[in-house]
Amino acid sequence: MTAASALHRVDLCGLDEVAPGTMKLCEVGDDLVLVVNLNGELHATQGICSHEYFELDKGFLTGDSITCALHLSRFRLADGEPLDPPAEMPLAVYQVVVEDGRVLIEVPEGPLEVNR
Ligand code: FES
Repeated sequence: MTAASALHRVDLCGLDEVAPGTMKLCEVGDDLVLVVNLNGELHATQGICSHEYFELDKGFLTGDSITCALHLSRFRLADGEPLDPPAEMPLAVYQVVVEDGRVLIEVPEGPLEVNR
């Protein structure tokens, strides 16, 4: 079996629920995924900060990064890398697929990758 065949898609929300310049926290089982619409370009990352437990939709979009509102670390949306302390661990990022007006992520089977 190839790695690609082990991927599956998870439906997060409607495309119309995340207008350009906004973000939305979506539940995936026990996990939370942040969907960000950067001027029409969709990104998905883990919904909770990698530094401490804090929901990232309470933060701010800052260019092509998200700033966590608790200690103000910025994370690059493209790859989840932290750009400022105190966070040191990247956010997990997920492959986004937009299909039939829905936002989905394509991820390996099993538990969602989350960095804590
Ligand atoms: S909880 Fe996000 S930077 Fe500390």
